[in-house]
Amino acid sequence: MLAQLLAVAAVAVSCVSAQNSTNFTISDVTSAFTAAKIVPDVLPAFNPTGILNVVFLDNTTGASVNVTPGENLTREQNALRPQVFLTTNDTSFAQQTFVLAMVDPDAPTPQTPTAAQIRHLLAPGIQANGSLAAGAALVNNTPAISDFLRPTPPAGSDPHRYILLLFVQPANFTTVASQFVNASTPISNFNISLFAEQVGLGSPIAGNFFLTGPDANSTATNGTNTTGTASGSAAAASSTSPANAPSSSLGRAELSWVGAAVAAMLFGTKLPPGANRILFVKNLNYQITGEDLYDLFGRYGSIRQIRIGNDQKSRGTAFVVFDDVMDAKNALDHLNGFHLQERYIVVLYHMPAKQDAAAAKAEIARREEELAQLKKKHDITDED
Ligand SMILES: *[C@@H]1O[C@H](CO)[C@@H](O)[C@H](O)[C@H]1NC(C)=O
Ligand SMILES: *[C@@H]1O[C@H](CO)[C@@H](O)[C@H](O)[C@H]1NC(C)=O
Ligand SMILES: *[C@@H]1O[C@H](CO)[C@@H](O)[C@H](O)[C@H]1NC(C)=O
Ligand SMILES: *[C@@H]1O[C@H](CO)[C@@H](O)[C@H](O)[C@H]1NC(C)=O
Ligand SMILES: *[C@@H]1O[C@H](CO)[C@@H](O)[C@H](O)[C@H]1NC(C)=O
Ligand SMILES: *[C@@H]1O[C@H](CO)[C@@H](O)[C@H](O)[C@H]1NC(C)=O
Ligand SMILES: *[C@@H]1O[C@H](CO)[C@@H](O)[C@H](O)[C@H]1NC(C)=O
Ligand SMILES: *[C@@H]1O[C@H](CO)[C@@H](O)[C@H](O)[C@H]1NC(C)=O
Ligand SMILES: *[C@@H]1O[C@H](CO)[C@@H](O)[C@H](O)[C@H]1NC(C)=O
Ligand SMILES: *[C@@H]1O[C@H](CO)[C@@H](O)[C@H](O)[C@H]1NC(C)=O
Ligand SMILES: *[C@@H]1O[C@H](CO)[C@@H](O)[C@H](O)[C@H]1NC(C)=O
Ligand SMILES: *[C@@H]1O[C@H](CO)[C@@H](O)[C@H](O)[C@H]1NC(C)=O
Repeated sequence: MLAQLLAVAAVAVSCVSAQNSTNFTISDVTSAFTAAKIVPDVLPAFNPTGILNVVFLDNTTGASVNVTPGENLTREQNALRPQVFLTTNDTSFAQQTFVLAMVDPDAPTPQTPTAAQIRHLLAPGIQANGSLAAGAALVNNTPAISDFLRPTPPAGSDPHRYILLLFVQPANFTTVASQFVNASTPISNFNISLFAEQVGLGSPIAGNFFLTGPDANSTATNGTNTTGTASGSAAAASSTSPANAPSSSLGRAELSWVGAAVAAMLFGTKLPPGANRILFVKNLNYQITGEDLYDLFGRYGSIRQIRIGNDQKSRGTAFVVFDDVMDAKNALDHLNGFHLQERYIVVLYHMPAKQDAAAAKAEIARREEELAQLKKKHDITDED
């Protein structure tokens, strides 16, 4: 067991021969958090007792980058999971286990953060190795709940704030946390303060943050727009489902176009037949990440789930599930034929599988009944 721990730690330390020294104080950190409105946007208050030194290894130059709170970093600089160090005079922290989190409260844009927060890292089981007074390396000896996701703010967005926070881990954390965040929990619409409350993390004891904007060269993702051209609409006739269609949580969602039709009748909105909350996206760049898609589609509303095809058959495709069918429609209207990472993407409504047809029929009958009742109510209201 100890040998195992040592091995993990040795790997973590040898990957990045980082420096554990900083040139800023705790009060520099709190001032920077306040100036950047992280208090109150993300934390109700922030009274750290330690300094979190975050050290990235630039993936292209190999240079190490010690993060000064609030500094601008490029996407190359922060492509890889950083090494972190804790400097504190509080000796009680030497025997503690910590939880390290990183969140983006500005997705898809700081002006309309409808997908925020994005959970970029949630790692429990972190321990200090070395002298806390001099800056001890924080080493993880358990797998992360959410693995590090590199910042990828969308083209056209102002820089996002990426915030790292260190909490003391309560003894029952593992059991309690899995009720709130597990493998099936979307990384979007996370709330670190709420999560901290739910699992008893208390206030962070240290933190740091940096800003990252879109790639200087990523304007292509925003530049060309071929909505309505052959590449977009011709393909719309042939929606197919890849092998890994969203299933478990989506059985009901697949029926939601019926509900959408009801909404359209009631509120006078126009939804095409087959419109539903689930979009099927084709012709994606194989390098696309879940966050790229959250960033783009999240501009149109709250996203429930994104699933990217990862096998031979489904590569280059994804499902994007919105909470609201009108947002899905809006996203489809704007993004079909959009140029994203050198490909013109095709966006279609997901077509419910045949085996769901019977269920859909039953659902239609139920909804029609519901509609009749709603209409009755509606009419009465009109007369008031
Ligand atoms: C602590 O860090 C030293 C290097 O400074 C390394 O040799 C050792 O394996 C680490 N121990 C643990 C438990 O992480
Ligand atoms: C720390 O050093 C970096 C680069 O050496 C500098 O950009 C930054 O302003 C310094 N921070 C403080 C608080 O002095
Ligand atoms: C970060 O970059 C923006 C421009 O994108 C600039 O206005 C700002 O002053 C920079 N901040 C720092 C701390 O260098
Ligand atoms: C890091 O650089 C290598 C070599 O250039 C590249 O293959 C890899 O994709 C890069 N990783 C990230 C996360 O950018
Ligand atoms: C630790 O205490 C020393 C001496 O009082 C002080 O200079 C230093 O800023 C403190 N460091 C931290 C991280 O609180
Ligand atoms: C950095 O960490 C090492 C090992 O934990 C320690 O010996 C050293 O004093 C620390 N501080 C600096 C400035 O290197
Ligand atoms: C991206 O497009 C939006 C409008 O769709 C525009 O406001 C923004 O300036 C564009 N950004 C870039 C970098 O071209
Ligand atoms: C977890 O531990 C805390 C005290 O550390 C306690 O207040 C809380 O009720 C515990 N939660 C569960 C689910 O056991
Ligand atoms: C997993 O997390 C979700 C919240 O995203 C929660 O609703 C669900 O109950 C959790 N699952 C388990 C087994 O605790
Ligand atoms: C996050 O949760 C906290 C605590 O419940 C709440 O006060 C805050 O408004 C929430 N933040 C957002 C952005 O929803
Ligand atoms: C942007 O493109 C130019 C020309 O292709 C290249 O020299 C430069 O390194 C690129 N910059 C980034 C940040 O990728
Ligand atoms: C693409 O062009 C169409 C038609 O000109 C426009 O309605 C839509 O907003 C554009 N999409 C984006 C993402 O800019």
